[in-house]
Amino acid sequence: MAETDNRNWPTRRTVLEGGAATGLLLAAGVPVRAQQDAIMTAAAAATPAPTMPMNLTINKNGFSVELDPRTTLLDALRNHLGLTGSKKGCDHGQCGACTVLVNGRRINACLTLAAMHEGDDITTIEGLAEGDELHPMQAAFVARDGFQCGYCTPGQICSAVGMLSEIRAGWPSHAGTDVAASAALTDAEIRERMSGNICRCAAYPNIVAAIRDAAGEA
Ligand code: FES
Ligand code: FES
Repeated sequence: MAETDNRNWPTRRTVLEGGAATGLLLAAGVPVRAQQDAIMTAAAAATPAPTMPMNLTINKNGFSVELDPRTTLLDALRNHLGLTGSKKGCDHGQCGACTVLVNGRRINACLTLAAMHEGDDITTIEGLAEGDELHPMQAAFVARDGFQCGYCTPGQICSAVGMLSEIRAGWPSHAGTDVAASAALTDAEIRERMSGNICRCAAYPNIVAAIRDAAGEA
């Protein structure tokens, strides 16, 4: 008969320890769901997460990292590569603070895994300027006071750069009535296309003005 490999099965010791821990939590009046969470958290802490090698190209520089495959692109940038310009507002794809450009297209870095972007050309806010010369969109935000606290600003700027490329490529938006016609860069068009980027300071009028300036539409 084939020999069974049961090395990963619970042992009598772990079952007894788990039972004892559950008993203590029950005795302390801890709700069942909280007990499950506590036990799962303890188990996760005891088991090191698997990692995998990744080669990423960010702002024209190559980075080789060894990360948990579940690491989001945003966490890879901020927590492992020291690129903290991209911000974490919601971590749920709702605020746009984490917007970066991947192969020229804007995406929410909190909604994608770093491992999915090997071979991609990733640009963050740190990579937009040419040396000491700001990208025209950055310069326009400064000139127009397109920010207050600045937390949303890296995402706004990356998103605006990607958005102008989308307009030039003829992508339609909900602001237009004719999807086949090229979009004029009206305030309504900009607001619609930038609606995924939230600004809690409500610097919207100046953000719109900055984008029109950068597009040469002032
Ligand atoms: Fe990514 Fe809010 S942090 S959308
Ligand atoms: Fe403060 Fe936009 S400038 S959130």
